[in-house]
Amino acid sequence: MRAIAQAQPNIALIKYWGKRDIKRNLPAVGSMSLTLESLWTKMTVRFSPEIEHDWLAVNGETADEMLPRVVRCLDQVAGKQRHFATIESYCNFPIAAGLASSAAAFAALVTAASSACRKSSDRLILARAAGAASGSAARSLFGGIVELESGDDEINVLALAEPDDWPLRVVVAVTAGGTKPVSSGDAMILSEKTSPFYSSWVANQEDDLDVARCAVQARNFEQLAAVSEHNCLKMHSVMWTSRPPVVYWNKATLACMETIRALQDEGQAVFFTIDAGPQLKAICLPENEALVAAALGAVDGVETIMTTGLGPGAQLLDDA
Ligand code: DP6
Repeated sequence: MRAIAQAQPNIALIKYWGKRDIKRNLPAVGSMSLTLESLWTKMTVRFSPEIEHDWLAVNGETADEMLPRVVRCLDQVAGKQRHFATIESYCNFPIAAGLASSAAAFAALVTAASSACRKSSDRLILARAAGAASGSAARSLFGGIVELESGDDEINVLALAEPDDWPLRVVVAVTAGGTKPVSSGDAMILSEKTSPFYSSWVANQEDDLDVARCAVQARNFEQLAAVSEHNCLKMHSVMWTSRPPVVYWNKATLACMETIRALQDEGQAVFFTIDAGPQLKAICLPENEALVAAALGAVDGVETIMTTGLGPGAQLLDDA
């Protein structure tokens, strides 16, 4: 009754921001993302009648504050009659800092838990369970370039391109590794209630998804760059115009954006996206990666640079 799974975070190009059903955690909009390769979370789940209560450790430390969300997810995958479990998670990148650590964590959790309790391993079913815990986690069940359709009653998730179909590179500039001030879940609920831009954000999302889908099909980097930056800035406009405002950027985030603009002016194939945190992610072609990484690494306030290609969806590592 023990299994180990690994999942990689994903970075949205067309963002999920808003919930149409808070209880079921259904997204108000569809989204599109890149599943990463070199950043990962490994999760071991063990169910046993000998375990007296659920227990979670993250990077070797007990993590009681994260336990209730994990318990709800385990109940959904394994059923409420399940045995108690120990859950051990290791992550090779900063947690709760806008780098999609919860996406990787819940994708790995549902994969390990379903195997440990011998339940269905159908990717879409697991994606729905992961999405109920954290909307973006549904996308990390799939690799490469992934679309999440918000659907009528349930989400649908599919891979638009496998990791090798279009070898994009992602350069992550970490500008502050600490925990974010407000969770994306709370912030998006606030945006729906208070931002005057929220309704037009939701209304225009399908148009951005159409453009991005066509760009992926045609491997049109410029088109994907333009719609992704536009969608990212629109999401942050909704955040900024929430009351109180939700501002995840810092000085270095803006400096990184200026650096990307300067590279674009020189004709480099690169664009940026930013999530619920101050880190900037630059997407580029392999031949531009070294230059982009060097330019972002030289920005004042950038603490670390991580580079990665596109990777697979969540995988089972061991089953015992
Ligand atoms: C800005 O998936 O973290 O990264 O469903 O409340 O857990 P919950 O939200 P979460 O939100 C991700 C928001 C985002 C954009 C995205 O990944 O699409």
